[in-house]
Amino acid sequence: MTAPALEVAGLDKAFGRVRVLRGIDLAVDEGEFVGLMGPNGAGKSTLIKVLAGVHPASAGRIALHGEHVASLDGQPEVGFIHQDLGLVDALPVVDNLRLGQAPLRLVGPLLNRRAERAAAERALAAVGLDVDVRTAVADLAPGEKALVAIARVLARGARLIFVDEATSTLPPDEARRVTDALTVLARQGATVIMVSHKLSEILDCTDRIVLLLDGEVAADRPTTGLGREELVRLLARHEKSVADPAAVRTVRTPGRELLRLDAVRGGRAGPVDLTVRAGEVVGLTGTPGSGLHDVGFLAHGALRPTAGRRVVAPGVRTALVPPHRETQGGFAALDVRSNLTVSALRRWRRLGFLDRARERRDCAALVAELEVHPADVDVDFGALSGGNKQKVVFGRALLREADVYVLCEPTRGVDVAAREEIYEIVRRLPDERTGVLVITSDAEDLLALCDRLATVAEGTVDGFRPVAGLSDEQLEAVL
Ligand SMILES: Nc1ncnc2c1ncn2[C@@H]1O[C@H](COP(=O)(O)OP(=O)(O)OP(=O)(O)O)[C@@H](O)[C@H]1O
Ligand SMILES: [Mg+2]
Repeated sequence: MTAPALEVAGLDKAFGRVRVLRGIDLAVDEGEFVGLMGPNGAGKSTLIKVLAGVHPASAGRIALHGEHVASLDGQPEVGFIHQDLGLVDALPVVDNLRLGQAPLRLVGPLLNRRAERAAAERALAAVGLDVDVRTAVADLAPGEKALVAIARVLARGARLIFVDEATSTLPPDEARRVTDALTVLARQGATVIMVSHKLSEILDCTDRIVLLLDGEVAADRPTTGLGREELVRLLARHEKSVADPAAVRTVRTPGRELLRLDAVRGGRAGPVDLTVRAGEVVGLTGTPGSGLHDVGFLAHGALRPTAGRRVVAPGVRTALVPPHRETQGGFAALDVRSNLTVSALRRWRRLGFLDRARERRDCAALVAELEVHPADVDVDFGALSGGNKQKVVFGRALLREADVYVLCEPTRGVDVAAREEIYEIVRRLPDERTGVLVITSDAEDLLALCDRLATVAEGTVDGFRPVAGLSDEQLEAVL
């Protein structure tokens, strides 16, 4: 019997007094494609970081093909792909593939660019990506960037590949290119361990699902025979019914106009025509990089139009959930409470004083409603898991009590239960004085939330159509 490609026994990790991983046991065979799932804050990224040697383990053993190692750091056959991918946008693909490695040389200082290019072409072929290796990474589609990141670890000889939410920011067809490439690699004998909150992605491509709950392996099952409902049941921290998104959406009659963009240009977007009225949820979708999110910044007012007009009805306040929580979302060194309340402090001011107790109570209630984990308003935002950061950034927009909510990728990286909670909250927002603009590359968001939707292509919004009555196929065609 051959030893498993990876074996982890009794792995523990504590940050201060908080035990984040509690005795993880896991064995993965060569050629297996494992989906690592679990609610936000369950410990998935921490497990990967401990294996990568980013954090030292507090206890436990790690073995690679039966050989004990302190971590997998520096093992040429192991590759890690994190969500930020670690590519340099300004450099061509060929240089990104060689990043951190000695250049190939002819003699002395002469570089063998031809050999580097040939090696790069082979690496791209392995992930099914057909682009000129001299293209700057900045000019690639988001899914293609992820493929370059995979090609890079392969070019270094990786046979055991960890992928932490590399598909969470991708629209369905781009995500599919990435998971297809990983599936092919696994068929060819590579071992893949992938973290994702997307159920269909995990059900479609993995051989086995390992579920973490509060730092423990709560289930470890072959994917075959595991249905969507069963998986949802396993994933929920508590029993919670997950409704069919289309079924619970109600059709509303829109009221007065709150916000309008007339032939507005700014960033990569424009000219854009768009209206948000009270009582409605307007959806926009399109590929990230198409100017999609710039429309959000323009609508919110964070980005000033270079042409056209943004018309806001008198007294209308806007709130924004920005698309990238890590860079635009929060203040890492401040606690959750400050991150929640920073743009709404006037709510708790009485006669010039801040009512700290009431502020705290409101925050605690919101943290409980959104199931932020840990449910503690005093922890630093920077120490939260990715999905929990997203919940806090969403919570901050809610506390602003705005009239127009501009929600960019509102469910990015959140777990199944939080997604439902966010849907319920967004559905309650539109009323006679409030409207919502949802800008997302997530099909489920559109279906669950929006009354009408349009796509953004090369910065321009095409015609709106009502969501009610759109079949899944029609919706997929839009995306
Ligand atoms: N550097 C740190 N210091 C303190 N606590 C941390 C640190 N990193 C992570 N944690 C805590 O460890 C727990 C697990 O976080 P982790 O990032 O592993 O979750 P996750 O399963 O990847 O969640 P998500 O789905 O949201 O990405 C969280 O409660 C988080 O707050
Ligand atoms: Mg994570």
